[in-house]
Amino acid sequence: MTEYQSGFGNHFASEAVPGALPVGQNSPQKVPFGLYAEQLSGTAFTAPRAENKRSWLYRLRPTASHKPFQPYRGAALLRSAPFDELPPTPNRLRWDPLPLPDAPTDFVDGLVTYGGNGDVAMGAGLGIHLYAADRSMVRRAFQNADGEMLIVPQQGVLTIVTELGRFDVAPLQIALIPRGLRFRVELSGPSRGYIVENYGQPFRLPDLGPIGANGLANPRDFETPTAWFEDEDAPHEIVQKFQGKLWTTTLDHSPFDVVAWHGNLAPCRYDLARFNTINTVSFDHPDPSIFTVLTSPSEHHGTANCDFVIFPPRWMVAEHTFRPPWFHRNVMSEFMGLIEGAYDAKEGGFAPGGASLHNQMAGHGPDRASYEKAVAADLKPHKIEGTMAFMFESRWVIRPTRWAAESPLCQLDYDDCWAGFAKAKLS
Ligand SMILES: [Fe+2]
Repeated sequence: MTEYQSGFGNHFASEAVPGALPVGQNSPQKVPFGLYAEQLSGTAFTAPRAENKRSWLYRLRPTASHKPFQPYRGAALLRSAPFDELPPTPNRLRWDPLPLPDAPTDFVDGLVTYGGNGDVAMGAGLGIHLYAADRSMVRRAFQNADGEMLIVPQQGVLTIVTELGRFDVAPLQIALIPRGLRFRVELSGPSRGYIVENYGQPFRLPDLGPIGANGLANPRDFETPTAWFEDEDAPHEIVQKFQGKLWTTTLDHSPFDVVAWHGNLAPCRYDLARFNTINTVSFDHPDPSIFTVLTSPSEHHGTANCDFVIFPPRWMVAEHTFRPPWFHRNVMSEFMGLIEGAYDAKEGGFAPGGASLHNQMAGHGPDRASYEKAVAADLKPHKIEGTMAFMFESRWVIRPTRWAAESPLCQLDYDDCWAGFAKAKLS
Protein backbone atom coordinates (compact mmCIF):
# COMPACT_ATOMS: atom_id res chain seq x y z
CA MET A 1 0.00 0.00 0.00
CA THR A 2 1.31 3.38 -0.94
CA GLU A 3 1.82 5.81 1.88
CA TYR A 4 1.76 9.52 1.34
CA GLN A 5 3.54 12.52 2.73
CA SER A 6 1.32 15.53 3.35
CA GLY A 7 1.91 19.10 2.20
CA PHE A 8 2.64 21.24 -0.86
CA GLY A 9 6.32 21.84 -1.60
CA ASN A 10 7.43 20.58 1.79
CA HIS A 11 10.90 19.24 2.44
CA PHE A 12 10.12 15.55 2.41
CA ALA A 13 12.35 12.60 3.25
CA SER A 14 11.67 8.96 2.42
CA GLU A 15 13.52 5.66 2.17
CA ALA A 16 12.22 2.37 0.78
CA VAL A 17 15.05 0.48 2.50
CA PRO A 18 15.89 1.39 6.08
CA GLY A 19 19.25 3.12 6.31
CA ALA A 20 19.40 4.08 2.61
CA LEU A 21 18.99 7.81 3.20
CA PRO A 22 22.19 9.55 4.31
CA VAL A 23 21.76 11.48 7.53
CA GLY A 24 23.00 15.04 7.95
CA GLN A 25 24.68 15.17 4.55
CA ASN A 26 23.62 15.08 0.90
CA SER A 27 26.65 13.56 -0.78
CA PRO A 28 28.79 11.45 1.55
CA GLN A 29 31.95 9.82 0.27
CA LYS A 30 30.36 6.44 0.83
CA VAL A 31 26.59 6.42 0.33
CA PRO A 32 24.75 3.62 2.19
CA PHE A 33 24.64 0.38 0.16
CA GLY A 34 26.84 2.00 -2.51
CA LEU A 35 23.87 3.95 -3.90
CA TYR A 36 24.57 6.89 -6.19
CA ALA A 37 23.70 10.35 -4.88
CA GLU A 38 22.20 12.63 -7.50
CA GLN A 39 20.62 16.07 -7.28
CA LEU A 40 17.56 17.01 -9.35
CA SER A 41 17.22 20.79 -9.60
CA GLY A 42 13.85 22.34 -10.42
CA THR A 43 15.06 25.92 -10.00
CA ALA A 44 18.43 27.61 -10.41
CA PHE A 45 20.83 26.84 -7.57
CA THR A 46 20.63 30.51 -6.69
CA ALA A 47 16.84 30.93 -6.72
CA PRO A 48 15.56 32.64 -3.58
CA ARG A 49 15.06 30.20 -0.74
CA ALA A 50 11.27 30.50 -0.79
CA GLU A 51 11.22 29.47 -4.46
CA ASN A 52 14.17 27.07 -4.49
CA LYS A 53 13.21 23.51 -5.44
CA ARG A 54 15.50 20.52 -5.54
CA SER A 55 15.68 16.94 -4.35
CA TRP A 56 18.46 14.48 -3.66
CA LEU A 57 18.02 10.98 -5.08
CA TYR A 58 19.87 7.84 -3.96
CA ARG A 59 19.69 5.24 -6.72
CA LEU A 60 21.07 1.95 -7.98
CA ARG A 61 22.75 3.56 -11.01
CA PRO A 62 23.37 7.18 -11.99
CA THR A 63 21.02 8.75 -14.56
CA ALA A 64 24.08 9.77 -16.56
CA SER A 65 24.63 6.19 -17.78
CA HIS A 66 22.79 6.06 -21.09
CA LYS A 67 23.40 5.98 -24.82
CA PRO A 68 22.65 8.97 -27.09
CA PHE A 69 19.04 9.97 -27.65
CA GLN A 70 17.61 9.48 -31.11
CA PRO A 71 14.48 11.13 -32.58
CA TYR A 72 11.24 9.48 -31.42
CA ARG A 73 8.63 8.76 -34.09
CA GLY A 74 5.49 8.22 -32.01
CA ALA A 75 3.04 10.65 -30.42
CA ALA A 76 2.06 11.93 -33.86
CA LEU A 77 -0.35 14.57 -32.53
CA LEU A 78 1.92 16.07 -29.87
CA ARG A 79 2.96 19.66 -30.59
CA SER A 80 5.01 22.21 -28.74
CA ALA A 81 5.73 25.92 -28.61
CA PRO A 82 6.18 27.94 -30.68
CA PHE A 83 2.65 27.22 -31.91
CA ASP A 84 2.91 28.56 -35.42
CA GLU A 85 1.12 25.97 -37.57
CA LEU A 86 -1.75 28.42 -38.15
CA PRO A 87 -2.41 32.10 -37.49
CA PRO A 88 -4.31 32.24 -34.18
CA THR A 89 -8.02 32.86 -34.66
CA PRO A 90 -10.06 35.40 -32.71
CA ASN A 91 -12.99 33.00 -32.96
CA ARG A 92 -14.38 31.13 -30.00
CA LEU A 93 -13.79 27.41 -30.32
CA ARG A 94 -15.37 24.38 -28.74
CA TRP A 95 -14.68 20.70 -29.19
CA ASP A 96 -16.68 17.52 -28.73
CA PRO A 97 -15.10 14.93 -26.42
CA LEU A 98 -11.86 13.39 -27.63
CA PRO A 99 -12.63 9.78 -28.68
CA LEU A 100 -10.87 6.91 -26.99
CA PRO A 101 -8.31 5.24 -29.24
CA ASP A 102 -9.35 2.50 -31.66
CA ALA A 103 -5.85 1.00 -31.75
CA PRO A 104 -3.64 0.10 -28.78
CA THR A 105 -2.26 3.38 -27.46
CA ASP A 106 -0.41 4.32 -24.28
CA PHE A 107 -0.23 7.64 -22.47
CA VAL A 108 2.69 9.02 -24.50
CA ASP A 109 1.40 8.07 -27.93
CA GLY A 110 -2.11 9.13 -26.88
CA LEU A 111 -1.15 12.78 -26.33
CA VAL A 112 -3.06 15.20 -28.55
CA THR A 113 -2.12 18.86 -28.44
CA TYR A 114 -4.95 21.39 -28.68
CA GLY A 115 -2.82 24.51 -28.46
CA GLY A 116 -0.51 26.61 -26.38
CA ASN A 117 1.59 29.72 -26.26
CA GLY A 118 5.00 31.08 -25.38
CA ASP A 119 8.32 29.53 -26.12
CA VAL A 120 9.96 26.47 -24.59
CA ALA A 121 13.35 27.98 -25.37
CA MET A 122 12.55 31.03 -23.22
CA GLY A 123 10.80 29.10 -20.44
CA ALA A 124 7.48 30.90 -20.81
CA GLY A 125 3.99 29.82 -21.78
CA LEU A 126 2.27 26.48 -21.86
CA GLY A 127 1.09 23.59 -23.96
CA ILE A 128 -2.40 22.13 -23.61
CA HIS A 129 -2.89 18.46 -24.38
CA LEU A 130 -5.52 15.81 -23.95
CA TYR A 131 -4.63 12.16 -23.64
CA ALA A 132 -6.71 9.21 -24.73
CA ALA A 133 -5.16 5.83 -24.04
CA ASP A 134 -6.11 2.25 -23.45
CA ARG A 135 -2.95 0.49 -22.38
CA SER A 136 -0.23 0.93 -19.81
CA MET A 137 3.27 2.09 -20.57
CA VAL A 138 5.38 -1.06 -20.23
CA ARG A 139 9.10 -0.79 -19.66
CA ARG A 140 9.16 2.75 -20.84
CA ALA A 141 9.18 6.12 -19.16
CA PHE A 142 8.51 9.71 -20.15
CA GLN A 143 10.64 12.67 -19.18
CA ASN A 144 9.71 16.25 -19.99
CA ALA A 145 12.61 18.68 -19.95
CA ASP A 146 10.36 21.44 -21.29
CA GLY A 147 8.05 21.82 -18.33
CA GLU A 148 6.14 20.39 -15.44
CA MET A 149 2.91 18.55 -16.22
CA LEU A 150 -0.39 19.06 -14.45
CA ILE A 151 -2.55 16.04 -15.26
CA VAL A 152 -6.34 16.22 -14.90
CA PRO A 153 -7.91 12.77 -15.43
CA GLN A 154 -11.44 12.79 -16.81
CA GLN A 155 -11.97 9.04 -17.27
CA GLY A 156 -10.00 6.13 -15.81
CA VAL A 157 -7.71 5.82 -12.82
CA LEU A 158 -4.03 6.37 -13.61
CA THR A 159 -1.22 4.77 -11.66
CA ILE A 160 1.71 7.12 -12.08
CA VAL A 161 5.04 5.51 -11.33
CA THR A 162 7.77 8.10 -10.82
CA GLU A 163 11.37 8.06 -9.73
CA LEU A 164 10.22 9.31 -6.31
CA GLY A 165 7.34 6.88 -5.76
CA ARG A 166 4.06 5.74 -7.23
CA PHE A 167 0.52 6.93 -6.74
CA ASP A 168 -2.96 6.57 -8.15
CA VAL A 169 -4.86 9.52 -9.51
CA ALA A 170 -8.54 9.25 -10.36
CA PRO A 171 -10.98 11.63 -12.03
CA LEU A 172 -11.64 14.58 -9.69
CA GLN A 173 -8.01 14.34 -8.56
CA ILE A 174 -5.02 16.01 -10.20
CA ALA A 175 -1.35 15.09 -10.41
CA LEU A 176 1.60 17.43 -10.70
CA ILE A 177 4.82 16.00 -12.17
CA PRO A 178 7.94 18.17 -11.85
CA ARG A 179 9.95 19.09 -14.94
CA GLY A 180 12.49 16.41 -15.78
CA LEU A 181 11.16 13.70 -13.46
CA ARG A 182 10.82 10.36 -15.19
CA PHE A 183 7.45 8.65 -14.94
CA ARG A 184 5.27 6.02 -16.53
CA VAL A 185 1.52 5.81 -16.60
CA GLU A 186 -0.33 2.56 -15.99
CA LEU A 187 -4.04 2.31 -16.77
CA SER A 188 -6.91 0.37 -15.26
CA GLY A 189 -8.95 0.73 -18.46
CA PRO A 190 -9.66 3.19 -21.26
CA SER A 191 -8.54 6.59 -19.98
CA ARG A 192 -8.84 10.20 -21.00
CA GLY A 193 -7.87 13.50 -19.45
CA TYR A 194 -6.33 16.91 -19.80
CA ILE A 195 -2.78 18.17 -19.31
CA VAL A 196 -1.25 21.56 -19.05
CA GLU A 197 2.46 21.50 -19.72
CA ASN A 198 3.89 24.49 -17.91
CA TYR A 199 7.02 25.92 -19.51
CA GLY A 200 7.16 28.78 -16.98
CA GLN A 201 7.65 29.11 -13.26
CA PRO A 202 6.49 26.08 -11.30
CA PHE A 203 2.92 25.97 -10.06
CA ARG A 204 2.47 27.24 -6.53
CA LEU A 205 -0.46 27.85 -4.23
CA PRO A 206 -1.94 31.30 -4.78
CA ASP A 207 -1.54 34.01 -2.17
CA LEU A 208 -4.71 34.32 -0.12
CA GLY A 209 -4.66 38.04 0.71
CA PRO A 210 -7.65 39.05 2.84
CA ILE A 211 -9.00 35.47 2.75
CA GLY A 212 -6.42 34.77 5.44
CA ALA A 213 -4.26 31.84 6.35
CA ASN A 214 -6.71 29.12 5.29
CA GLY A 215 -8.91 28.37 2.33
CA LEU A 216 -9.02 27.34 -1.33
CA ALA A 217 -6.57 24.43 -1.75
CA ASN A 218 -5.07 23.81 1.67
CA PRO A 219 -1.42 22.70 1.62
CA ARG A 220 -1.86 19.61 3.77
CA ASP A 221 -4.25 18.04 1.26
CA PHE A 222 -1.51 17.62 -1.33
CA GLU A 223 -0.06 14.13 -1.17
CA THR A 224 3.43 13.11 -2.23
CA PRO A 225 4.36 9.43 -2.50
CA THR A 226 7.00 7.72 -0.44
CA ALA A 227 10.12 6.18 -1.97
CA TRP A 228 9.44 3.11 -4.11
CA PHE A 229 11.79 1.40 -6.55
CA GLU A 230 12.08 -1.57 -8.85
CA ASP A 231 15.32 -3.50 -9.28
CA GLU A 232 14.82 -4.70 -12.82
CA ASP A 233 17.65 -5.45 -15.24
CA ALA A 234 15.73 -5.40 -18.50
CA PRO A 235 15.61 -2.93 -21.40
CA HIS A 236 13.61 0.23 -20.66
CA GLU A 237 12.90 3.00 -23.12
CA ILE A 238 13.14 6.64 -22.07
CA VAL A 239 11.10 9.06 -24.20
CA GLN A 240 12.19 12.60 -23.55
CA LYS A 241 10.55 15.86 -24.63
CA PHE A 242 13.31 18.40 -25.17
CA GLN A 243 12.84 21.81 -26.82
CA GLY A 244 9.60 20.74 -28.38
CA LYS A 245 10.73 17.45 -29.92
CA LEU A 246 10.62 13.90 -28.66
CA TRP A 247 13.73 11.76 -28.29
CA THR A 248 14.31 8.17 -27.26
CA THR A 249 17.02 6.07 -25.73
CA THR A 250 17.16 2.67 -24.08
CA LEU A 251 18.56 1.74 -20.70
CA ASP A 252 19.43 -1.81 -19.70
CA HIS A 253 17.58 -1.33 -16.42
CA SER A 254 14.54 0.36 -14.94
CA PRO A 255 14.90 4.10 -14.38
CA PHE A 256 12.69 3.70 -11.31
CA ASP A 257 15.59 2.67 -9.10
CA VAL A 258 15.61 5.46 -6.50
CA VAL A 259 15.79 3.73 -3.12
CA ALA A 260 15.64 6.89 -1.01
CA TRP A 261 15.22 10.61 -1.55
CA HIS A 262 14.76 13.88 0.21
CA GLY A 263 13.87 17.38 -0.90
CA ASN A 264 11.05 19.66 -1.98
CA LEU A 265 10.93 18.88 -5.71
CA ALA A 266 8.49 16.00 -5.88
CA PRO A 267 5.33 14.82 -7.58
CA CYS A 268 2.04 15.17 -5.79
CA ARG A 269 -1.66 14.62 -6.18
CA TYR A 270 -4.63 16.58 -4.91
CA ASP A 271 -8.28 15.69 -4.49
CA LEU A 272 -10.38 18.51 -5.95
CA ALA A 273 -13.20 17.56 -3.56
CA ARG A 274 -11.03 18.97 -0.79
CA PHE A 275 -11.01 22.44 -2.35
CA ASN A 276 -12.42 24.91 0.14
CA THR A 277 -14.70 26.77 -2.23
CA ILE A 278 -15.44 30.38 -1.39
CA ASN A 279 -18.37 32.20 -2.96
CA THR A 280 -20.42 35.31 -2.37
CA VAL A 281 -22.94 35.41 0.48
CA SER A 282 -24.27 38.77 -0.63
CA PHE A 283 -24.50 39.61 -4.32
CA ASP A 284 -22.76 39.30 -7.70
CA HIS A 285 -20.76 36.41 -9.13
CA PRO A 286 -17.16 36.71 -7.91
CA ASP A 287 -14.33 36.80 -10.39
CA PRO A 288 -13.35 33.18 -11.17
CA SER A 289 -9.92 33.79 -9.64
CA ILE A 290 -11.64 32.92 -6.35
CA PHE A 291 -11.50 29.32 -7.59
CA THR A 292 -7.73 29.21 -8.28
CA VAL A 293 -6.14 25.94 -7.18
CA LEU A 294 -2.59 26.54 -8.42
CA THR A 295 -0.85 29.37 -10.22
CA SER A 296 2.28 29.68 -12.31
CA PRO A 297 3.26 33.33 -12.04
CA SER A 298 4.84 35.36 -14.80
CA GLU A 299 7.19 38.30 -14.32
CA HIS A 300 4.15 40.61 -14.16
CA HIS A 301 2.85 40.45 -10.61
CA GLY A 302 -0.70 39.08 -10.46
CA THR A 303 -0.69 38.12 -14.14
CA ALA A 304 -0.29 34.36 -14.49
CA ASN A 305 1.64 32.36 -17.00
CA CYS A 306 -1.04 29.83 -16.10
CA ASP A 307 -3.76 29.62 -13.50
CA PHE A 308 -5.49 26.31 -12.85
CA VAL A 309 -9.03 27.20 -11.80
CA ILE A 310 -11.92 24.86 -10.96
CA PHE A 311 -15.69 25.30 -10.91
CA PRO A 312 -16.67 22.83 -8.20
CA PRO A 313 -19.97 22.01 -6.52
CA ARG A 314 -21.06 24.99 -4.42
CA TRP A 315 -24.01 26.81 -2.94
CA MET A 316 -25.37 29.73 -4.90
CA VAL A 317 -27.11 32.18 -2.60
CA ALA A 318 -26.48 35.59 -4.17
CA GLU A 319 -29.43 37.96 -3.92
CA HIS A 320 -30.71 40.12 -6.82
CA THR A 321 -27.90 38.68 -8.93
CA PHE A 322 -27.40 37.08 -12.30
CA ARG A 323 -25.85 33.98 -10.85
CA PRO A 324 -24.05 32.21 -13.75
CA PRO A 325 -20.71 33.51 -15.00
CA TRP A 326 -21.33 36.88 -16.61
CA PHE A 327 -20.64 38.05 -20.15
CA HIS A 328 -17.14 39.35 -20.52
CA ARG A 329 -14.06 39.98 -22.57
CA ASN A 330 -10.79 39.14 -20.90
CA VAL A 331 -7.20 40.20 -21.46
CA MET A 332 -6.32 36.68 -20.32
CA SER A 333 -7.06 33.64 -22.50
CA GLU A 334 -9.21 30.80 -21.23
CA PHE A 335 -9.11 27.10 -22.12
CA MET A 336 -11.82 25.08 -20.38
CA GLY A 337 -12.43 21.39 -19.83
CA LEU A 338 -15.13 19.42 -18.07
CA ILE A 339 -14.51 16.41 -15.85
CA GLU A 340 -18.13 15.59 -15.03
CA GLY A 341 -21.62 17.04 -15.03
CA ALA A 342 -22.65 20.31 -16.64
CA TYR A 343 -21.14 23.79 -16.47
CA ASP A 344 -23.50 26.48 -15.22
CA ALA A 345 -22.92 28.84 -18.17
CA LYS A 346 -23.71 26.28 -20.86
CA GLU A 347 -26.94 24.31 -21.25
CA GLY A 348 -25.53 22.00 -23.91
CA GLY A 349 -22.61 21.32 -26.22
CA PHE A 350 -19.90 21.34 -23.55
CA ALA A 351 -19.49 17.70 -22.58
CA PRO A 352 -17.09 15.84 -20.28
CA GLY A 353 -13.92 15.18 -22.28
CA GLY A 354 -14.67 18.16 -24.49
CA ALA A 355 -13.06 21.59 -24.37
CA SER A 356 -13.53 25.23 -25.22
CA LEU A 357 -11.23 28.13 -25.95
CA HIS A 358 -12.06 31.80 -25.43
CA ASN A 359 -9.03 33.81 -26.36
CA GLN A 360 -7.97 37.31 -25.41
CA MET A 361 -10.83 39.83 -25.82
CA ALA A 362 -13.26 37.28 -27.31
CA GLY A 363 -16.77 38.09 -26.14
CA HIS A 364 -18.20 35.11 -24.28
CA GLY A 365 -20.42 34.14 -21.39
CA PRO A 366 -23.62 32.21 -20.80
CA ASP A 367 -25.38 30.79 -23.79
CA ARG A 368 -28.90 32.01 -24.51
CA ALA A 369 -30.62 29.10 -22.81
CA SER A 370 -28.55 29.57 -19.62
CA TYR A 371 -29.13 33.32 -19.72
CA GLU A 372 -32.89 33.03 -20.05
CA LYS A 373 -33.06 30.47 -17.27
CA ALA A 374 -30.96 32.64 -14.95
CA VAL A 375 -32.88 35.89 -15.41
CA ALA A 376 -36.15 34.06 -14.78
CA ALA A 377 -34.91 32.05 -11.82
CA ASP A 378 -36.44 32.25 -8.37
CA LEU A 379 -33.31 33.17 -6.38
CA LYS A 380 -33.62 30.67 -3.58
CA PRO A 381 -30.43 29.13 -2.21
CA HIS A 382 -29.42 26.53 -4.77
CA LYS A 383 -26.62 23.99 -4.73
CA ILE A 384 -24.73 23.24 -7.92
CA GLU A 385 -23.85 19.57 -7.58
CA GLY A 386 -22.27 16.74 -9.54
CA THR A 387 -20.09 18.94 -11.72
CA MET A 388 -16.44 19.85 -12.09
CA ALA A 389 -15.33 22.16 -14.86
CA PHE A 390 -11.90 23.74 -14.91
CA MET A 391 -9.89 26.36 -16.73
CA PHE A 392 -6.29 26.79 -17.78
CA GLU A 393 -6.01 30.59 -17.97
CA SER A 394 -2.98 32.33 -19.42
CA ARG A 395 -1.76 35.86 -19.98
CA TRP A 396 -0.86 34.89 -23.56
CA VAL A 397 -3.17 33.98 -26.41
CA ILE A 398 -3.59 30.22 -26.72
CA ARG A 399 -2.80 29.33 -30.32
CA PRO A 400 -4.67 26.23 -31.56
CA THR A 401 -2.79 23.51 -33.37
CA ARG A 402 -3.76 22.64 -36.91
CA TRP A 403 -5.28 19.41 -35.61
CA ALA A 404 -7.46 21.29 -33.11
CA ALA A 405 -8.62 23.89 -35.62
CA GLU A 406 -9.40 21.40 -38.36
CA SER A 407 -10.61 18.42 -36.32
CA PRO A 408 -14.17 17.24 -36.92
CA LEU A 409 -14.49 17.53 -33.14
CA CYS A 410 -14.37 21.32 -33.50
CA GLN A 411 -17.95 22.58 -33.38
CA LEU A 412 -18.57 24.76 -36.41
CA ASP A 413 -21.84 26.04 -34.93
CA TYR A 414 -20.44 27.16 -31.56
CA ASP A 415 -21.22 30.84 -32.22
CA ASP A 416 -24.90 29.95 -32.52
CA CYS A 417 -25.21 29.48 -28.75
CA TRP A 418 -25.02 33.26 -28.47
CA ALA A 419 -27.41 33.99 -31.34
CA GLY A 420 -30.87 35.45 -30.96
CA PHE A 421 -30.50 37.46 -27.78
CA ALA A 422 -33.38 39.91 -27.74
CA LYS A 423 -32.50 43.58 -27.89
CA ALA A 424 -32.82 45.43 -24.60
CA LYS A 425 -35.86 47.68 -24.51
CA LEU A 426 -35.26 51.26 -23.39
CA SER A 427 -38.94 52.01 -23.09
FE1 LIG B 1 -14.38 33.69 -19.32
